[in-house]
Amino acid sequence: MLKGKKILLGISGSIAAYKSASLVRLLIKAGAEVKVVMTPSATTFIAPLTLSTLSKNEVLSELSSENTWANHVLLGRWADIMLIAPLSCNTLAKMSAGLCDNLLMAVYLSATCPVIVAPAMDEDMWLHPSTKNNIRQIQSYGNQVIPVENGELASGLKGEGRMAEPEQILQFINDFFFRSGELKGKKVLVTAGPTYEAIDPVRFIGNHSSGKMGIAIAEECKRRGADVTLVCGPVTTPVNSSISLVKVKSASEMYNACMDVFPSVDIAVMSAAVADYTVEEPSSQKIKKNGDSLTLHLQKTKDILKALGVTKNERQLLIGFALETNNEKAHALKKLHEKNADMIVLNSLNDPGAGFGYDTNKIVIFDNRGSEFQFETKSKKEVASDIINTIIKYSNG
Ligand code: CTP
Repeated sequence: MLKGKKILLGISGSIAAYKSASLVRLLIKAGAEVKVVMTPSATTFIAPLTLSTLSKNEVLSELSSENTWANHVLLGRWADIMLIAPLSCNTLAKMSAGLCDNLLMAVYLSATCPVIVAPAMDEDMWLHPSTKNNIRQIQSYGNQVIPVENGELASGLKGEGRMAEPEQILQFINDFFFRSGELKGKKVLVTAGPTYEAIDPVRFIGNHSSGKMGIAIAEECKRRGADVTLVCGPVTTPVNSSISLVKVKSASEMYNACMDVFPSVDIAVMSAAVADYTVEEPSSQKIKKNGDSLTLHLQKTKDILKALGVTKNERQLLIGFALETNNEKAHALKKLHEKNADMIVLNSLNDPGAGFGYDTNKIVIFDNRGSEFQFETKSKKEVASDIINTIIKYSNG
């Protein structure tokens, strides 16, 4: 399955490094060519000789030895992917900060190929806010993280932080290669985040959308080879720099940006929480608190999804979202038909872990051929993957 694929395995210092031997065997058995780079501390957990024997390649851990410099740039260029497993808390922090104090870090920083990591650490370290931050940070650079498992840890405690088993890592890599070209040649437009409608120069009407769902969709489309434009309202969530990002504030700016981009795309996914009403006449000066009450006149914004539904041609796919609190299915189906979308992704605020601000979501997808697809509560990254898989299946008939 991995025939001809070149995998550079980086091993950092964690007890889970003992699993690296079986991981190398599995990768080689699947047809991959494997080279191993270790941090100096990883060599205390597993012998380089074991890994060089299994990979049939020299194992490197120093930037130079016996007056010879290890060419980290060439190693990074050689690989189709770099897999760092196990990824220790320390190496994760270095990746996040861009530190370069060993060969593995030098290879990582100069690698031009995709990087996949499998973290391994004790639960308290895994749950520490700085670790969470570092994980988000390295994801924003485009690195992919294989989820940790819940189970027995090196400390003897049970909890989250165990490295995924070698078989699961192999499965992740197989999927990665299988999926990475699926949207090659396709152009995708994604909208994300809230819109801000100005009341005066310092105040606005907005909503709680974090943009996480739409950003995850944009990044997943990019990972699968698409050319992605993300039209995004004001958010703090970082966006991978490989995505062409159009930053907007108001619903009308988002409308203009989408109308501009839509004619050239194959797929449009409208996940933004667009304001339905905007202030009729925003004040050019800060409004002073003069009276006991203040009346704002609001007027309807243009419905972007509906406008795209009107101009959509036969080869274009249009996907909308519906965030509902009651009569969810009926409302979602109404939006699907009234806005001439091909699919609508429903999330209900009644489902725990779904909606604004969460890192998870629970969705149901309805298409205009009458099909309905239910999904469990998952991370927004996995939900993005489910949405794209459903779009691809739909477009294949
Ligand atoms: N949408 C849009 N432009 C708007 C409002 C909504 O493109 N001005 C899109 C959203 O991005 C989403 C879909 O329409 O894909 C449904 O949005 P939602 O807020 O759930 O529904 P509305 O149509 O605004 O209806 P309501 O607020 O009454 O539920």
